[in-house]
Amino acid sequence: MKETVLKKFEEVFGDAEGVKVFFAPGRVNLIGEYTDYNGGHVFPCALTIGTYAAARVREDGRLRFYSMNFEKEGVIESSIEDLKPLKEAGWTNYPKGVMWTFGEKGFQITKGMDILLNGNIPNGSGLSSSASVEVVTGAILREFFGFEVSNQDLALFGQYSENKFNGVNCGIMDQFAIAMGKQDHAIFLDTADLSYTYAPVKMDGAKIVIACSNKKRGLGDSKYNERREECETALSELKKVVDIKSLGELTEEKFEECKSAIKDEVRVRRAKHAVYENQRTLQAVAALKADDIALFGQLMNASHVSLRDDFEVTGIELDTLVEEAWKVDGVIGSRMTGAGFGGCTVSIVKEDAISRFIQQVGEAYQAKIGYAADFYVVEVGGGPTIL
Ligand code: GLA
Repeated sequence: MKETVLKKFEEVFGDAEGVKVFFAPGRVNLIGEYTDYNGGHVFPCALTIGTYAAARVREDGRLRFYSMNFEKEGVIESSIEDLKPLKEAGWTNYPKGVMWTFGEKGFQITKGMDILLNGNIPNGSGLSSSASVEVVTGAILREFFGFEVSNQDLALFGQYSENKFNGVNCGIMDQFAIAMGKQDHAIFLDTADLSYTYAPVKMDGAKIVIACSNKKRGLGDSKYNERREECETALSELKKVVDIKSLGELTEEKFEECKSAIKDEVRVRRAKHAVYENQRTLQAVAALKADDIALFGQLMNASHVSLRDDFEVTGIELDTLVEEAWKVDGVIGSRMTGAGFGGCTVSIVKEDAISRFIQQVGEAYQAKIGYAADFYVVEVGGGPTIL
């Protein structure tokens, strides 16, 4: 891949002098969905697929971007003095947002850059291609400008730029999973204080299989921000009767005791999901540590039901993929992953059942939805690197 991006860089920008090549992964969340902005726990892992970037510094202030994933758009130009989100700037709003964020945080970018990207994460799949672009941009800026920022800072800067530059009120999970990824480990992160531990992903003869619904979505045009508002309103209602800072502080029992403070049935279900999903995540990590993969799978399944019925972020495509997966012998657990509304599911499948799984779920999906799903057997990889 390094050679591919270098060759393309030369073709697009004339020569490859002073170029370095970087990589940042995508991520999949195993469990702990829509808990991150509710002060709860998440359990994602970085993947070996991700975003490759060839980059160099320029002597002037020009920014030139090119993506091998959006070749039709050609070279998109901008300037370091003019970092504003623009609709017509398309995907370049992600790297530009990170450059802007560095400036906001006191790390001024003083020179322009030529940056070429090539990602092998399916776009809009819910495997965080945009967070991967944000983190790889942070790694590029750190390297070329010598900024003393940690990988955790890269995660926080990525989230800041997504929130303030690109207008999506996402939590910290995606950028954190990508910037802090560790090979063969998932990250057990408490989003309330960013404390975390790594847990080995040992699945006892099973693998992580991603099924991509091919229903495209972008967080900006989904109901993502609306769900966040619903959770925040529910929290402010609960605060009148219980002393908490986030929904993640509540146990199921405590929630049941005080839920009548929430004055709307829909908001009760949104908050219920956040509370129960957080508890499920704690149980799931304990189960994995105790080698109880069957219980881990059951908790994944329960997570999906809650996301479908209470949080309402699935849709017929994801529900079909998951419900068909549950029917296959050798499937330990299956749920939607990421923001939902399209995107992907994650399933833990016994190795000897994988081809049957892909065939059976693939056929049922095609028959019901009218177009094909794509399947990826993925490996758990590390964080950002210079190649
Ligand atoms: C998206 C957001 C994350 C998180 C998930 C849902 O991936 O970027 O912060 O909220 O949705 O768990």
